[in-house]
Amino acid sequence: MKMFYQQFLAFFLMITITLLTLGMTFLGLSRSMFYQNTWDRLQDYAYAVKTQAMDIRQGKDSKVVVDKKKLVITEQMLSGRHIKIRIYTEPDKLIFPDSKKATTKISSKCWSKLKRGQSVRAKTSDSRGFFKDSNRQLTNIYEPYLDIKGNLMAVVSVGTVMNGIEENLKEIKRNLLYAFFTAVVLGTIVIFVLTHYFTNRITKIQRATRQVANGDFDVQIDTCHHDELDDLAEDFNLMTRSLKESQVEIERQEQRRHELMANAAHEMRTPLTTINGLLEGMAYGALPEEDQEQCINLMRKETTRLIRLVNENLDYEKSRSGELVLAKTNFDATSAINDVVSQLHKMAGDVGDRFIVKLPPLLNVYADKDRFIQIITNIGKNAVQFTRDGTITISGEKHGNDTMISIADTGIGMTDEEISNMWERYYKADPSRKVAKYGESGIGMAIVHQLLQLHHAKVCVDSAPGKGTTFTLLFPGEAIASDGSDQPQDDGSVVVDSRD
Ligand SMILES: Nc1ncnc2c1ncn2[C@@H]1O[C@H](COP(=O)(O)OP(=O)(O)OP(=O)(O)O)[C@@H](O)[C@H]1O
Ligand SMILES: [Mg+2]
Repeated sequence: MKMFYQQFLAFFLMITITLLTLGMTFLGLSRSMFYQNTWDRLQDYAYAVKTQAMDIRQGKDSKVVVDKKKLVITEQMLSGRHIKIRIYTEPDKLIFPDSKKATTKISSKCWSKLKRGQSVRAKTSDSRGFFKDSNRQLTNIYEPYLDIKGNLMAVVSVGTVMNGIEENLKEIKRNLLYAFFTAVVLGTIVIFVLTHYFTNRITKIQRATRQVANGDFDVQIDTCHHDELDDLAEDFNLMTRSLKESQVEIERQEQRRHELMANAAHEMRTPLTTINGLLEGMAYGALPEEDQEQCINLMRKETTRLIRLVNENLDYEKSRSGELVLAKTNFDATSAINDVVSQLHKMAGDVGDRFIVKLPPLLNVYADKDRFIQIITNIGKNAVQFTRDGTITISGEKHGNDTMISIADTGIGMTDEEISNMWERYYKADPSRKVAKYGESGIGMAIVHQLLQLHHAKVCVDSAPGKGTTFTLLFPGEAIASDGSDQPQDDGSVVVDSRD
């Protein structure tokens, strides 16, 4: 069954049951209240008859005497209220209004109760024409009249017609029925509107869910934060937002993967094409004898470049997957940096650059020595690569336990965007530089980034186009560095910083 009909039926049944229960209870209460009042009144009359118009004549055979005059007057006074008084001496024998056999006999069960001194209340129909209009509903009260020993001497019966009460009850029933039908009609309209409103909101969520299932993550449901359905809609919106974010991230990763594959292929193609061309020339004897040595040197250089590319990629992947384990020790950074500088000296000289080293005679650093040299070499090479006829200043000092090393060049510098992209694999700010003399694969900084993360070192890049670049590295001392694991932190929040 559709939810609309379920809700409708549930509400409808609830209203009907509630109204019926209330109506029945109200009717029952009214009826018993009417009877109770009448009986209380009749009991008062019976008591008045007993005390005012009855007596027991003592003698050999004690007997009840009634003041008939008084009773007739009383009955006449109460005739407007349809009150009838009867006095029984036996279940079927009357002494008032006349001493004769009673037309309405008191049942033996009722008589035995009266004998025990209990009064009896009864509802009968006036089939014998007790009152002028026959077939009316009657109510009677029977009061025992006892002597001092507790013997039943007589029974006072005071009765009245109940047609007024029954008419009142009928009126109440009629009114209740009207109220019931009005409530059912109004309730049905309200229920219809409410059910329609709720099912509409559920249908909205259902429609939105289908849209999401079809891949549309832009769908959002309007909410007013009123009830649980709004909460559900709010949660749904949250879910679609995070699904959208995940989808964007997946697309970004996919795009990145494509780029990496394309870049890797591109980086390898250049040296392979060079080697292939040279080999073909040699195979067909197209190369003069005197150029052959130069060709072999060129091929060796290209092969070395390929090997470096493969090794660096392997290094990068190892460090990302946590396979690269650092052998950290305390060693002298000054001598390690001096070694790097002497290696890069020729390269710097070729482009008119000059190294300035401002290091203390002994500068302790806690790091993996080979990887430390790799970091300084990569940053130093870049400084030479992107500086013409300038200076590259390397300085260092202790900061408490930590070791600070700064490499500043006066080269071409970078924009903010270039700085933030610099750590990406195969990123080159200007692809036309790939024919530069030194380094061209765009992987150097990605490896530096990974290695710095493994060392829990911080890096700050301060650069401005045309003015130069300064890399400031902070290697933590032994106590701090040993605290963290050697795994790189994927959030990238620790190591990279820019003061630009
Ligand atoms: N000191 C610097 N001055 C200006 N630009 C720099 C500097 N260092 C890095 N860059 C920019 O960052 C890019 C990435 O550097 P990275 O070292 O990763 O690649 P690469 O030097 O081009 O190639 P290689 O893999 O051989 O090092 C460079 O291409 C350059 O655009
Ligand atoms: Mg480089």
